[in-house]
Amino acid sequence: MMKEKLLHIALRIYDAKEELPTPDAELLEEAKAALSKSYSPYSKFQVGAAVRLANGAVLSGANQENASYPMCLCAEQVTLATAASLHPGVAIESIAITVRSQLKTITAPASPCGACRQVLCETESRHHQPIRIILQGETGPVFTLEKAGDLMPLSFDGSFLE
Ligand code: THU
Repeated sequence: MMKEKLLHIALRIYDAKEELPTPDAELLEEAKAALSKSYSPYSKFQVGAAVRLANGAVLSGANQENASYPMCLCAEQVTLATAASLHPGVAIESIAITVRSQLKTITAPASPCGACRQVLCETESRHHQPIRIILQGETGPVFTLEKAGDLMPLSFDGSFLE
């Protein structure tokens, strides 16, 4: 018999970043500072990301574009790969992601693309630890989620390959 299952995610919406818990507000500031590291001459769309690691380290990165468009690297993947390279084996506790466009003011949080969601989920499962997500546009509300898996229900993972 057919069953319907409702999936729900807990999305927290803060009117402004000043309302965030201090560690989240600080990480978001790091992500905003990372916007200056974006190389985005083609899209004019800057994405900054910052991660807090279980050992207390904070690292950031930004999107890196290429004239061969499919080679563009997303800020989230740049930052997660940097963390894995500089602190191998250390879990990611949280990631803040923010955006800024040269074409318009972005007033809503932009959430990670599907490929970045897949990488975030892989990182979460490899360290057996949820990654808290903090999102804000250039202005406007801040969204937080308790784990990357909330951004991608029914995701494909390594358990299918065992
Ligand atoms: N971008 C990211 O950095 N992260 C995402 O999750 C979505 C898109 C970048 C890639 C490209 O440099 C620009 O934003 C426009 O797609």
